[in-house]
Amino acid sequence: MTEKPAETAYPLHDLLRRRWSPRAFSSTPIEREKLGSLLEAARWAASSRNLQPWRFLLVEASDAEAFEKLAGTLMDANQAWARKAPLLILVCAQRSPDGGLARHAFHDCGLAVAHLTMQALSMDLWVHQMAGFSAEKARAEFGVPADFEPVSVLAVGYYGNPADLPENRRATETGPRTRKPLGEIAFRGTWGSAAEL
Ligand SMILES: Cc1cc2nc3c(=O)[nH]c(=O)nc-3n(C[C@H](O)[C@H](O)[C@H](O)COP(=O)(O)O)c2cc1C
Repeated sequence: MTEKPAETAYPLHDLLRRRWSPRAFSSTPIEREKLGSLLEAARWAASSRNLQPWRFLLVEASDAEAFEKLAGTLMDANQAWARKAPLLILVCAQRSPDGGLARHAFHDCGLAVAHLTMQALSMDLWVHQMAGFSAEKARAEFGVPADFEPVSVLAVGYYGNPADLPENRRATETGPRTRKPLGEIAFRGTWGSAAEL
């Protein structure tokens, strides 16, 4: 397992510190019980007005036809590694009843995915979120109704072997993780004045 813990100025919960987005997945299937826990974690996320706008379409590699359909919506660069994962999940957000995007539906989907991701890691499973897919294709392939919007696709599985990755992906797999400094993302009192933490 490649460990790339966050370098932090302040202590973090171990799961938050250890999480990253791997591309080297093992094709080992995920146990039913663990699948259940992943979805329970997502279900119990907070959401605006408790609308729970998230929907998760699970596609396991063992369901070859459906897997091919969802994998086929991914950008080529994502297909090159994500096809190895035993589970892909299409995340969709519910639109507001007037047909517009509910203001916080995408936010709430992200929150639910964060829950799922942390629960996954607690069970030794890894998640790689992808925006690089065709929402239109996913809608057509899976009959996503008009009042839902495809948001992302998740690759989920146990960690595999980085040596199996396409050559152009191996360096990033083991390379460092970077972040903006706290002073650039956290302000205090007025916009732009770094919160000196
Ligand atoms: C909404 C979202 C979409 C992403 N889309 C892709 C993607 O299409 N392909 C990819 O390889 N990584 C994708 N990523 C992974 C990010 O590149 C990654 O989270 C970021 O570089 C930070 O790295 P870390 O997650 O390892 O800390 C996505 C992440 C998020 C949250």
